Amino acid sequence: MSETVMRAVQFDRAGGPEVLRVRDVPAPTPGSGQILVRVRAASVNPADILSRRSRIGGFPRGTGMDYAGDVAAVGPGVDDLRPGDRVWGFLGTGRRPVGAAADYLIATRDQVAAAPASIALVEAAALPTVGLTALQALRTLRLHDGDRLLVVGASGGVGSAAVQLGRAMGAAVTAVAGARSGDLVRDLGADRVLDYASIDSHAPEQDFDALIDCHGGSISRYRRMLRRSGRGVTVAAKGFPFALLSRVLPGPSIGVVIVKPSRNDTQALTRYVDDGHLRPVIDTTYPLAAIQDAHRAVETGHAHGKRVIDLRALPPSRG
Ligand SMILES: NC(=O)c1ccc[n+]([C@@H]2O[C@H](COP(=O)([O-])OP(=O)(O)OC[C@H]3O[C@@H](n4cnc5c(N)ncnc54)[C@H](OP(=O)(O)O)[C@@H]3O)[C@@H](O)[C@H]2O)c1
Repeated sequence: MSETVMRAVQFDRAGGPEVLRVRDVPAPTPGSGQILVRVRAASVNPADILSRRSRIGGFPRGTGMDYAGDVAAVGPGVDDLRPGDRVWGFLGTGRRPVGAAADYLIATRDQVAAAPASIALVEAAALPTVGLTALQALRTLRLHDGDRLLVVGASGGVGSAAVQLGRAMGAAVTAVAGARSGDLVRDLGADRVLDYASIDSHAPEQDFDALIDCHGGSISRYRRMLRRSGRGVTVAAKGFPFALLSRVLPGPSIGVVIVKPSRNDTQALTRYVDDGHLRPVIDTTYPLAAIQDAHRAVETGHAHGKRVIDLRALPPSRG
C-alpha cells in the first residue's frame, strides 16, 4: 500500500452531529491475523449516534461499525483472504479511534467475510449490522415453518432484514410499521401490515408464535399479541427493562439480543443475498463530507431504509 495518510471521521467530544470531523490520519498496517480493508462504503446505525453522544470511552473516537470494500493487504497468518477480494463485515460496537467511516480499516477474522457477488459494494454496506442483528435474533426465536412472526419497526434497518429473513425461514410475517412504509414492507415479503399509530384499535390478541421488536416502545402491548407458547425478543435498548421484567410476569418472556461479530453468520448473510432472499433497503447515499447530514437523518428514528456513506463519492459541488 503506497498511502500513509487516509481520511477518517473522528470526534473529540460527545455531542451532536456537528462534532464529527473528516481528518487525515495515519493509514493502519495489518498485524498478525489482521486484514487491511480498503473501504468502499459504510453505513450509519443508531449505535453510532449513541456513541457520538456518549462521554464514556476515549477520544478521539471514530464512527461506523459496518462496511463493504476490498482487501488491501493481509497480515501474517491470514491465508484465506487475498488482496483484491471483495469483503464486508461488522466490527462490533466497541469504541475505537477509527471506525468504518474511513478509507481503510483493520478487521479481524470474525469481522470480515466474502461480500455477496450479486450486489454492488455500496449497497452491501447497508446490511452487515442490521442483517446480523436480525439473523441472530431470529435464530434465538427458533422459527418453524409456517410460524406466525410479528416484526415491530419493520421498515427500519433491522426490521427490514427481519421481514426478509423471517420469510426465508418459512414464517408468515406480519409487519408493524408507519403508514408511509406499508408498500415497502409488503414488497419485502410481509403478508400483513399493521400501522403502529393505530395498533391499539386493531391488534389481534395471542395471535403470533414469535415476535422481534426493533423499536422498544409499547413492547408490553406487542407481548400480548403472542400466544402463551410464543417466543419474543427485543433488540432495542428501550425495550430491555420490560424484557427483564417479563421473566417474572405470567405469559411469554421477552429475550434480549445483542449482536456480535461472526464470520459464519456474515457468510450466511452473503448466501441469503446471493440466493435472492435478502436485499438492502437504502434511503440515501452520502459522500464522506456529508457524514453530519447522515447522522442527522438517522437520529430522527424514522427510517425508510439505511443511510450509507460512499467513501469514493465526491461531495456535491457548490454553485
Ligand atoms: N441489540 C443490538 O445488538 C442492536 C443492533 C442493531 C440495532 N439495535 C437497536 O435496534 C433499534 C432498531 O435499529 P435500526 O437500525 O433498525 O433503526 P432504524 O433503521 O432507525 O429503524 C427504526 C424503526 O422504528 C420505527 N418506529 C418509529 N416509531 C415507532 C413506533 N412508535 N412503533 C413501532 N415502530 C416505530 C421506524 O418506523 P417509521 O420510520 O415508519 O417511523 C423505523 O422503521 C435501535 O434502537 C437500535 O439501537 C440494537
